[in-house]
Amino acid sequence: MVDSSFVEKNLGPFYRKAQEIWDQLPPKARFRPLEDGKVLARYAPLMEGWVEEVVQGFYDTLFAHPPTRAVFREGERPAREKTLRDWYLRTIRGPFNGQYFAWQALVGLVHVRRGVTNAMMASMWNWLTETVERKAWASLSEGEAQALAEAWRRLAFTVMALIAEEYLEAYLEALAQALGQDPEAFIGRAQAEAARLLEGLTPG
Ligand code: HEM
Repeated sequence: MVDSSFVEKNLGPFYRKAQEIWDQLPPKARFRPLEDGKVLARYAPLMEGWVEEVVQGFYDTLFAHPPTRAVFREGERPAREKTLRDWYLRTIRGPFNGQYFAWQALVGLVHVRRGVTNAMMASMWNWLTETVERKAWASLSEGEAQALAEAWRRLAFTVMALIAEEYLEAYLEALAQALGQDPEAFIGRAQAEAARLLEGLTPG
């Protein structure tokens, strides 16, 4: 099955961006494409059976809370459910290659456009890890459930890092460009300004 929502996009620049973010994550603290990918591939057929529960639960959670509900346009839910369904199935089936991680970085830019904050995104990753873990414990032996929960958790934090970091970079680049400034210089100014603000917090 080909997922048109991301194959149609030119992911070109996002391969490099995803690689740069990936390189910041210590190998012991990030997703392990071979090892974790194998675990996820083993349980993908089982996890496919969870897709509707995951998709409905995800959007019921977002629509039940006014600040997250406010992100969506009237009548948009079916299209968003399809996006999440495609994303979940592509995720559990793998492969965990450059294209997949470039697409995850692109989500950061897409979220900037729609005003989805990283706080909202991270909390839904928490919901997704909890849901997958609960379902794993209900369907598998203790050892298998633990293996699946661990691989899924490492994927969760890694993808969360890609989305969040690209969100910040896209935000800064967009602002710098709108103001006709160089994004690198912009980041330097942010650091200097952060130092100044922190000095202002020092008593006396
Ligand atoms: C686990 C956390 C999340 C993941 C993995 C995720 C993933 C995605 C993906 C894959 C897309 C499509 C990107 C593309 O165009 O190819 C997308 C778009 C979108 N997401 Fe998220 N998302 C997450 C959290 C959220 C939350 C919390 C909200 C709202 C409160 C949200 C709202 C949206 C909207 C409105 C779009 C569509 C943007 C557009 O095309 O105009 N997402 N997300």
